[in-house]
Amino acid sequence: MTTPTWVRLAELGASVLFILALKGLSSPKSARRGNLLGAAGATIATAVAFFYGQEFFGGPIRHLPLILIAIVIGSVIGWIAARRVQMTQMPQMVALFNGVGGGAAAVVSTIEFLSAGNDESVAALAATVFTVVVGSVSFAGSILTFMKLQELMTSRPVVIPLGRYITSLAGVATIGAAAMLIINPTQSLLYVLLLLSLSMGVLLVLPVGGADVPIVISLLNAFTGLSVAASGYVLGNVLLIVAGTLVGASGTLLTRMMAQAMGRPLTNTLFGAFTAKATAAAGPAEDRPVKSASPEDVAIMLAYARKVIIVPGYGLAVAQAQNTIRELVELLGAKGIEVDYAIHPVAGRMPGHMNVLLAEANVPYDQLKEMDEINPEFPATDVALVVGANDVVNPAARDDKTAPIYGMPILNVDQAQQVVFLKRSMRPGFAGIENEVLFDPKTSLLFGDAKESLTKVVSALKGL
Ligand code: TAP
Repeated sequence: MTTPTWVRLAELGASVLFILALKGLSSPKSARRGNLLGAAGATIATAVAFFYGQEFFGGPIRHLPLILIAIVIGSVIGWIAARRVQMTQMPQMVALFNGVGGGAAAVVSTIEFLSAGNDESVAALAATVFTVVVGSVSFAGSILTFMKLQELMTSRPVVIPLGRYITSLAGVATIGAAAMLIINPTQSLLYVLLLLSLSMGVLLVLPVGGADVPIVISLLNAFTGLSVAASGYVLGNVLLIVAGTLVGASGTLLTRMMAQAMGRPLTNTLFGAFTAKATAAAGPAEDRPVKSASPEDVAIMLAYARKVIIVPGYGLAVAQAQNTIRELVELLGAKGIEVDYAIHPVAGRMPGHMNVLLAEANVPYDQLKEMDEINPEFPATDVALVVGANDVVNPAARDDKTAPIYGMPILNVDQAQQVVFLKRSMRPGFAGIENEVLFDPKTSLLFGDAKESLTKVVSALKGL
């Protein structure tokens, strides 16, 4: 039966909406519209698949009540999760949803394989097997990533003995089983392949830790896109091919850009832990003196500065201090002090985290400076005010070859005349390593929750 024109037109419309959504998401100004366009495209796509599949259109969908129950349960879970999730938990939510997508593609292809048996062409079988492998890797890897980010397990690299060899062996076995399944499609081999692929997902993500986790989320996202595109081929569904290809391509580009921002090749992210030397344990922080400051001290330092650079990080998001920092910057601006925000590409816990957070507080875009633009300005800066950031200003990334963040470009706050850190304790950042700038004689630490500290600094400034 040929596909009716209304279905083709609706699929075309949804594809255009997906492309426009990606275009919108490429800038913070149009991101909200892009998101809505993507959601509209997905709604149209789901509705078309659902209605066209019904028996009165001659479609193959059976078990309508079960499908409706699944739609209701899925929608309710998605709705509640999206409403409750904190900005800081967004990466693990993305990881979880991404894993579910990869898992769904693998399940669809498994069912397709089991129902088609030996009747499929080699090309269709190859697409099915590809979806099973990549979808399962993405599912298992994403669930593990979710557990790392949710701190259900350690977020540090987990290196198992002989891990490198076990992973290589599992990789070869997976490719071998996939090839054999295409030549001789049997159910038992399919189950072996499923198990091998799931183990590959776990083995690939286990040794990834700390600052590399976001890159892996993006990579797995690209994997899910590819498996969805392949499942579109298996099911003869053009829309799945288009949507999957868009996710695969944009995920691959994002992965590349993030790996570049971290200053390392992707292979280093995935296999670095196998080859890295043991990272030197952080020194006994409590034995080394640091200079602490009161809110009044910080207010005076800022009031007498000519140029201030604010470096926001994850702690700003945790403290939800975005409005208070804007208020502080406005106050300094009114005193004629030049203030900029320095935005590191991986500050926070998701790409663009700081941009989104500061946009929420209506901070003008032109005050946000990218790393390459702002770095030359630090030597001429009187005060670098680091608000809840740590790894992104850690010179170990420049100087210490054994550090897990070695090679990542950083914001050079250590070159400013004075540095002020707003943090709650001497605990390290996400990568779990000591930051030497904290012990520099020109550094002052204002301990406490960033929002509370900033509020006190603002009122001290008003009194000056
Ligand atoms: P981190 O290195 O994680 O440092 C955050 C700092 O904020 C810590 O020093 C912490 O110290 C402080 N902090 C936490 N809550 C606070 C609060 N309520 N008030 C004041 N301070 C608070 O953050 P960063 O510099 O933004 O670097 C980001 C790290 O996360 C990088 O390693 C990056 O690779 C990784 N990562 C990034 C992403 C993306 S894509 N952006 C995704 C996942 C992981 P205290 O505990 O002492 O307060």
